[in-house]
Amino acid sequence: MSHTTAPEYVLGTDAIEAKRLGLQHRLWSAAAHNLWEIAGLRPGMTVLDLGCGPGHATFDIATIVGGAAPDRASLGRVIALDESAAFLHQLNETAVGRRLTNIQRVLGDVQSLAAAFPGATAFADMAYLRWVLCFVPRPNDVIAGLARVIKPGGKVAIQDYFNYEAMTLAPRHADFTRAIEAVARSWRAGGGDPDIVSLLPAMLRQHGFRVDHLAVNQRIARPGSMLWAWPDSFWQSFVPRLVEKGFLSPQERDAFFAVWSRASNDPDCFMHLPPLFDLVATKL
Ligand SMILES: C[S@@+](CC[C@H](N)C(=O)[O-])C[C@H]1O[C@@H](n2cnc3c(N)ncnc32)[C@H](O)[C@@H]1O
Repeated sequence: MSHTTAPEYVLGTDAIEAKRLGLQHRLWSAAAHNLWEIAGLRPGMTVLDLGCGPGHATFDIATIVGGAAPDRASLGRVIALDESAAFLHQLNETAVGRRLTNIQRVLGDVQSLAAAFPGATAFADMAYLRWVLCFVPRPNDVIAGLARVIKPGGKVAIQDYFNYEAMTLAPRHADFTRAIEAVARSWRAGGGDPDIVSLLPAMLRQHGFRVDHLAVNQRIARPGSMLWAWPDSFWQSFVPRLVEKGFLSPQERDAFFAVWSRASNDPDCFMHLPPLFDLVATKL
């Protein structure tokens, strides 16, 4: 594993965020597996999981590309890259515990893939990026880097947001909407873009990719359902950070949690979740 220092991403890298990412992966794993199947993921491939976090998707991909041969390491592998040493450390501990030997960790910036993989070009069959491009200030540099590392005919599979601020409680509530706007403002202030998917088709084309698949996962959550735990865990971990960073006042936070708590006990309300887009592109 190579070492650099990098700023912490906007949602943090502590144990609470790592656990939230685990829950989030379980709740969205069907959509991830569906996209991997569309993209043609299979045993033997070399796959980049870029912005891998603590590795929840990495482990699934490693199991698939590792196949069922006794010598798993000689089969496919995952190269898991993140800017957080803490997340990569957790990834390694879990991989060791699960005896997954076909994962290589790289500490690096997804916007500088040439620096993360010096001298290496056209070596990956696929790259997967989920909930990463919406956080980076230079998405075009990510796509340029992908054009360098993906083999001709190789795939990029992306799951990310457009129209994130369409997320709402139904019926709508002003105190809830204010918090959603604060989340989006905080991402933008960090150089991210909660509308990032709208820019990707043009960027990919300019860097020699053809977009083969573009679709949206629009889900809703009802109080008491499994999926309700997704926004619930996000508020618990992120709303306090919004207050710390001045995007929400303590009064707005209290008003938000009062609305959320009432909604959580109201069987007549539901949440329109943020639209998560699927994109698969081929390197020409
Ligand atoms: C919301 S998490 C998603 C993690 C993982 N992709 C998943 O779907 O579970 C975003 C991840 O992107 C990483 N990240 C953000 N900006 C990055 C950058 N410029 N280079 C590398 N990793 C980055 C964060 O450290 C974090 O692990």
